[in-house]
Amino acid sequence: MSFKKLLLNEEEIPNKWYNIAPDLPEPIPPPINPKTREPVKPEQLEQLFAKELIKQEMSNERWIEIPDEVREVYKIWRPTPLYRATGLEKALKTPAKIYYKYEGVSPPGSHKPNTAVAQAYYNMKEGIERLTTETGAGQWGSALAFACAMFNMKTTVYMVKISYNQKPYRKILMESWGAEVIPSPSEKTENGKRILKNFPNSPGSLGIAISEAIEDAVKNERTKYSLGSVLNHVLMHQTIIGLETKKQLEQINEYPDAIIGCIGGGSSFSGIFWPYYYDKISGKAPKETEFLAVESTACPSVTKGYYVYDHGDTARLTPMLKMHTLGHTFVPPPIHAGGLRYHGMAPTLCLLSKHGKIQAKAYNQIEVFNAAALFTRVEGIVPAPEPAHAIKAVIDEALKCKRKNQDKTLLFLLCGHGYFDMKAYEDYFNGRLQPYNYPKEKVDECIGKLVELYPWLKSELNY
Ligand SMILES: Cc1ncc(COP(=O)(O)O)c(C=O)c1O
Repeated sequence: MSFKKLLLNEEEIPNKWYNIAPDLPEPIPPPINPKTREPVKPEQLEQLFAKELIKQEMSNERWIEIPDEVREVYKIWRPTPLYRATGLEKALKTPAKIYYKYEGVSPPGSHKPNTAVAQAYYNMKEGIERLTTETGAGQWGSALAFACAMFNMKTTVYMVKISYNQKPYRKILMESWGAEVIPSPSEKTENGKRILKNFPNSPGSLGIAISEAIEDAVKNERTKYSLGSVLNHVLMHQTIIGLETKKQLEQINEYPDAIIGCIGGGSSFSGIFWPYYYDKISGKAPKETEFLAVESTACPSVTKGYYVYDHGDTARLTPMLKMHTLGHTFVPPPIHAGGLRYHGMAPTLCLLSKHGKIQAKAYNQIEVFNAAALFTRVEGIVPAPEPAHAIKAVIDEALKCKRKNQDKTLLFLLCGHGYFDMKAYEDYFNGRLQPYNYPKEKVDECIGKLVELYPWLKSELNY
């Protein structure tokens, strides 16, 4: 039977998240304190995060119960649809079958509320009244603002200044849910003031905004910080995506040959592929499914970065994480995929990349928008610039299938819509986008600064 989309009932929303920690090829190198080089203790993270989230971060349990209150909020938009990209298949004349899971149906328009709702819930349970965070594209800030509204909490969002200017309606959306939105770097924090003193025209970066949000959380009562990607518990909350997708594809006896997603901090892609990785590791997978992560050539953390301990933020307030990094002093070029401009990457994803369990690829924003424009015309949904990177990779894979006459099953994650990204589309249609490639020398420069700061990293890097 031919179909366009597959839906599930509300009762089919999974009741457990999948935690990859016990199934990794080696334990994740722990977050460390740069002064002592010792692993950070859970108590040291309590200043920032709810206790339950720290427990999940360090957990080795494979399945973690989703609280009923969280599933109740999920019901507003979950289960999300799984589409067959019939229009794209036809346009490419490919024998490949292309499916996509669409997370743009959530109120904020992306996958981000899958974790935001969980994080707000656990903080509310522990008596926290306000959450602070950073946002790049505005998707994560919107998600947290929405989630906090659902649990009657306050939110303060430090929004990277260039996005704040490019996306005024994202700010208004966050304010509609009751959030306070501050362009970063700002005069509100000591870290913001320091940056502004040295670089008055700084466009901001996620690293700077994280520093501001952390400072705000640490200095204020009943306030904690919330992170939208990178950490294990965040990625785990996103596995609801892959778990639903599996149920949907099982209905039609399909199993993907390849799973493709974009990576900024790694949460959406991990959310879709982890459950399939579990199939592989537990011998249940009927195919040798490949996992392909796609990043921007303007922020090539995995394809050009170094795998080394680095801070998550510019002001070095966070512990150091072992990850692919462009260096915490990285200031990204002003490309439109705001969510893909982070200097680091999820440590779990980096570990899997080191072991060859996933592959990574980078595309520039012109080729990405070419793919997005085609997708919009043949599938009807306007993709956010971030998942448009995955669309570009899917198109390349589907064309490869055409050349080789292979009928592979390709699955990708359309993790958000692009209806707040009209400025990006306008720039694209008017030929104002640049195909930016972040130069290797600049990566080396930032990593050089990191090594100057922490000479003990030299041996780790063979620098
Ligand atoms: C729509 C969208 N996709 C992808 C990302 C990248 O983050 P992650 O790799 O954690 O999914 C973002 C981040 O803000 C985003 O807003």
